[in-house]
Amino acid sequence: MTKLLPATPDNIHRAAAVLAGGGLVAMPTETVYGLAADAENDAAVRAMFAAKGRPADHPVIVHLADRALVDDFAADVPPAARKLAAAFWPGPLTLVLIRGSRISDLVTGGLATVGLRVPSHPVAQALLREFGGPLAAPSANRFGRVSPTTAAHVLSDLAGRVDLILDGGECSVGLESTIVDCSAAGAVGNALRGVPDLRGVPDRQGVPASVAILRPGAITADQIAAVLQSPIAESAAAAPRVPGSLPSHYAPRARVELVSAEELLPRAMQLASSGEKIAVLTRQRPDIGDQQVAWLPIPADHAEWAASLYGLLRQVDELGCDAALATLPVEAGIGVAIADRLRRAAGPRSP
Ligand code: TXA
Ligand code: MG
Repeated sequence: MTKLLPATPDNIHRAAAVLAGGGLVAMPTETVYGLAADAENDAAVRAMFAAKGRPADHPVIVHLADRALVDDFAADVPPAARKLAAAFWPGPLTLVLIRGSRISDLVTGGLATVGLRVPSHPVAQALLREFGGPLAAPSANRFGRVSPTTAAHVLSDLAGRVDLILDGGECSVGLESTIVDCSAAGAVGNALRGVPDLRGVPDRQGVPASVAILRPGAITADQIAAVLQSPIAESAAAAPRVPGSLPSHYAPRARVELVSAEELLPRAMQLASSGEKIAVLTRQRPDIGDQQVAWLPIPADHAEWAASLYGLLRQVDELGCDAALATLPVEAGIGVAIADRLRRAAGPRSP
């Protein structure tokens, strides 16, 4: 049975006890809701993978209460990672580092690296402190589906599969954390570069050790470059290097088509006239008097668009639409992350 409880101090206390007993707790973070398990309890981590329906070779992020704990869980923390942690933790940033000995193969999917994050959400913070250890937490959705940004989203995906959901309201960022790979920027990463079976440390033989963005998010490439005082590639959307990632990640059931602003109305009418139920994600109400077309309004502000995107994609399915039409934002700031998620939602589906 899944309990859905408001994130009061009493219930956070209760949730910490569930985690200590090897149970699963869905917790709000500033990005999306996470499905938390004791990262040092293999049985709990296995149960978490099973609840999500997630393949075992897909690594999960380990959440820590404080950036001072990073050395307990990473074997090699290069200066670039320390600078980024000091600038952005707690917050929506995950650092990929060479893993420490306390991190099990189950958590990393056998990789030599681990993704670490210190979330800023007060409920996640309180739970991490009360629990007193690292929490492995992927997004609290069924594998391959849209990440949850409310407790109700979690319930609709994981009812009966998670012991307790802490309701902390809507997530403020609404897109998953920016993932920055620093694993090749330190001494150990350098020594290991080019080792063929070392999955997770990108093969950068002949390429200078560098820091790379694996997944864009609310912390932008410009912000990262400013802290590191060197430019950083924004290549994630074109060439995702996150192991095990599928193109159709973050997708609703409905088909998603990305179109230009000019194509949007003609395409919507064409599909509707062929009998499909269509949703259009646009800022202004489209001028179509057709019942087969549902309008899901997009906020003008990019941060608000990011925060509402997953809720809108879920609504597309709730409305029973066959397809959703959307336009891409200008790819600057968090617009890069919005465009990345929309492209993945529109990407080829696995069978
Ligand atoms: O905002 C977030 O990051 C949320 C909240 C709950 O913290 N978590 C999240 O987790 O999005 P998940 O498991 O849905 O996505 C984590 C991504 C996966 O694509 C995974 O491949 C990547 O992080 N990842 C984890 N560890 C990694 C590693 N060692 N190397 C490369 N990628 C890694
Ligand atoms: Mg996820």
